[in-house]
Amino acid sequence: MTQDELKQQAALRALDYVVEGAIVGVGTGSTANFFIDGLATIKDRIAGAVASSEVSARRLAGHGIRLFDLNDVEELPVYVDGADEIDASLAMIKGGGGALTREKIVAAVATKFVCICDASKKVDVLGRFPLPVEVIPMARAQVARELASLGGKPVLREGFVTDNGNLILDVHGLQIHDPVKLEVNIDGIVGVVTNGLFAKRGADVLLLATADGVVMLERT
Ligand code: 5RP
Repeated sequence: MTQDELKQQAALRALDYVVEGAIVGVGTGSTANFFIDGLATIKDRIAGAVASSEVSARRLAGHGIRLFDLNDVEELPVYVDGADEIDASLAMIKGGGGALTREKIVAAVATKFVCICDASKKVDVLGRFPLPVEVIPMARAQVARELASLGGKPVLREGFVTDNGNLILDVHGLQIHDPVKLEVNIDGIVGVVTNGLFAKRGADVLLLATADGVVMLERT
């Protein structure tokens, strides 16, 4: 089975978590795209969706799924999104697609975060995937120095601007044994908008697609 087929399997399983008549929080990336395409098949059973990026909003709209502004939404029972890495505690690195800030905001509103991944994303220790950090452009050099002092090697994502008009530094070479602490520390650097550690608010459910089928793990 290809990686894309595994991503699709996890994404389609997440449809089981969609609440009838409710608004669905929708993530960003190739796995989330499979979820959006699946959501289109049940669009008459949901009120609509909140998107975590402009690109996901366009895909949802292309399927005729009604889009809501997060500010107009009081309850979001479920947020479904992929991850770049996820550990046994369901802490994640996200932001490979650069949508980390909006993803973290939508996830914060949601009651349940359902993470959809192929098996390659499951790791023992987070950090092999470079940690994305969204920064205010004028703070880029200063934030890079601070990230280097934490032991990482920040690299500017060339030619990339986030939906919020900011830059991404991808931090290489980290071995993240305490993701909650590092998430808090990086958020404390002046000029950082968001970092791609989703540990304080990790996933509640992981749907991990393996060659033997989709395995469900819940945060304990
Ligand atoms: C985008 C993300 C994605 O969820 C993450 O990069 C995984 O992407 P994919 O599903 O394409 O492997 O965080 O900002």
